[in-house]
Amino acid sequence: MLIQRTVVSAGFLLILSAGLCIAKPIENEMNQKIDDLLSQMTLEEKVGQLHQIGGSFATGPDFKNDANREALVRNGWIGSFLNIVDLGYMRELQRLAVEESRMKIPLMFALDVVHGYKTIFPVPLAQAASWDPDLIEKAERVAATEAAASGIHWTFAPMVDIARDPRWGRVMEGSGEDPCLGSRIAEARVRGFQGEDLSAENTILACAKHFAAYGAAEGGRDYNTVDLSELVLREVYLPPFQAVVDAGVASVMNSFNVVFRMPASANALLMNQILKGEWNFQGFVISDWNSYGEMIAHGVAADKYDVACLAMNAGSDVDMQGYVYIDALIPAVKDGKVAEERLNDAVRRFMKMKFKLGLFDDPYGYINPERMKNTLMIKPFQETALKLAHESIVLLKNENHLLPVQKKIGSIAVIGQLADSREFRDMLGNWCAMGDMNDVVTILQGVKKKVSRHTKILYAKGCEAFGQCPDSLIQEAVIAAEESDVVLLALGENGFMSGEATSRAYIGLPGDQIKLAKAVHATGKPIVLLLMTGRPLTIPWCHENIPAIVNIWQAGTMGGQAAADVVFGDVNPSGKLPVTFPLTIGQVPLYYNALNTGRPVGPDGNPHFRSAYIDCPNDPLYPFGFGLSYTAFEYSDLILSSVKIGMNDVLTVRVNVRNTGKRDGIEVVQLYIRDLVGSVSRPLKELKGFERVPLKAGESRQVEFHLTSDALAFWSRSMTFEAEPGDFKVFVGGSSADVLEENFTLE
Ligand code: NOJ
Repeated sequence: MLIQRTVVSAGFLLILSAGLCIAKPIENEMNQKIDDLLSQMTLEEKVGQLHQIGGSFATGPDFKNDANREALVRNGWIGSFLNIVDLGYMRELQRLAVEESRMKIPLMFALDVVHGYKTIFPVPLAQAASWDPDLIEKAERVAATEAAASGIHWTFAPMVDIARDPRWGRVMEGSGEDPCLGSRIAEARVRGFQGEDLSAENTILACAKHFAAYGAAEGGRDYNTVDLSELVLREVYLPPFQAVVDAGVASVMNSFNVVFRMPASANALLMNQILKGEWNFQGFVISDWNSYGEMIAHGVAADKYDVACLAMNAGSDVDMQGYVYIDALIPAVKDGKVAEERLNDAVRRFMKMKFKLGLFDDPYGYINPERMKNTLMIKPFQETALKLAHESIVLLKNENHLLPVQKKIGSIAVIGQLADSREFRDMLGNWCAMGDMNDVVTILQGVKKKVSRHTKILYAKGCEAFGQCPDSLIQEAVIAAEESDVVLLALGENGFMSGEATSRAYIGLPGDQIKLAKAVHATGKPIVLLLMTGRPLTIPWCHENIPAIVNIWQAGTMGGQAAADVVFGDVNPSGKLPVTFPLTIGQVPLYYNALNTGRPVGPDGNPHFRSAYIDCPNDPLYPFGFGLSYTAFEYSDLILSSVKIGMNDVLTVRVNVRNTGKRDGIEVVQLYIRDLVGSVSRPLKELKGFERVPLKAGESRQVEFHLTSDALAFWSRSMTFEAEPGDFKVFVGGSSADVLEENFTLE
């Protein structure tokens, strides 16, 4: 791995991961207590610890809504709940567990805190566009603080799946298509959630999901078959998981898909061999929502008994909402099909986290209405949400410097249902936990706060929800546009169009929003398109015809304010795409770190007998790493410390970056490599490092990266992770498609 500013970063990581370890005597004491408990527990009570069910609401199908919850807790047949958010009810269930059950083992409460608990941050894909792991870590600490003050011990986040297919709705929950960026962000999220002390008031357990290769679903259809090589699994999909294990993540969630024809929840290669073996993962593994039960539909098990044996023996520890362990694990253990020591291991792993959370010392510690009231949505949290929303915004086009708009402008039309919506999670985005649409600053509100009191604001909805645009609304929008000096047009997806189970076969603007865009365009007024989305959209017409395009994604509670700050120039956009935006759906999957093929298209672009389309270019609309600024950056003097390095050397890569414009700005400087000849074919480019570089107008800085042979290593033909001697290219620039390049040799 390439480490920027080597010494500082390496030290930082060491200190943090050391912080996650409990000092030996405490660890010993904890293990002793767990062994004591285990020696007294019945088989039923052990299995009960591994049984998790849903509470007040469902986040999956076939929700049983168990009326028997209290009795289960009293009997010690339940170890944790998901989806309970009522403090009073949490207290009552906890009381039953620690006062009325035989073993008095406290419960854990889990929730999907994916991009904030009450203060909602931009959707994770948008956050990744900031290329700012430090700020993301801070945001997750805010999320953990709010969640921990609301009775939550454990979040089902971060989602660290690499996603190369924008049809897959869950692309919105991760950090995009790149393993390097994805890993840096994934570990930052874990540090943010878990901190150095899991019993602290501002930390909760993290859960890396979905293990593994869930993002490779065929056709981008959620829950669909995954079919890949072990090399691609290890090179593309596993690195973020390994990074979070190294960062001390407490839990890992199985994915729904098969890997090598075996459902991930029963995949011994993934869990026993790689996760718990090669990576020495000390936490526990939880299934996804009934992913154990789904093994019967996958056709690898006939009944729950089979499933229980397969899952347990492959290394999956806790059953979410599957009722598989509770119904079938006890006979499987009694029959000797699952060793009791394996069951003990799963229970031990799980209970260890209850200790680390401090639940055995104070089971009610997280249930405190006063603390909750004083914690949620406080000003500094909103400020962090605003800052992350600023950094997430990506300027995609700005012809003739249409942006920023003058605050003193005479009149402005704000058009689009999404511009002032308080429904369908429009600005919040999916998986928004306790986020409340009423807390959202909409675009219209943001604009109103920003412009001079003489500016006339004309708002027209243009469409109904889900992009349905009747002619009458389009007509109103056209009139508003005609009366204005500039139009802000908010188009895109609502919050229910990305996330789980929201695959789309067409990824253009939903509904007939394009009709609205064309009608407004026909007025001849200058238009700024504010794109709201949880995934890459195909917008070739907009790119051709609309002079300014700003991707604000689904930017969270402070989204409208952040958008207005950018539109009116109080903030200079600095976001860069963490995922490729294709020109058309027919190019998908399209990602920057592809292989060359034997017949790449040459510089003349001629597709004849080349790996190309006869009806469309290969290039995306917006490449990975792309994003504009109100200023411009010039790269020069790419210099390597040597043209040859040995396996133990460090190559220093220096480049000059100059802000050539009249505004201060921030550039995300990206470093890529290409291994020219490998024992297996290597990608055209691979991101190995990046740095956010603030530059005042006119200022130049030399940016330095340090490359070690670790960064050049890959899964070779013999399936070993190693760097191979040979020639490399190194590229540095402000986008994967716009770089300077140099060469060096690894000896
Ligand atoms: C199913 C989703 O795949 C997973 O990401 C989520 O954490 C669980 N449901 C619980 O809500």
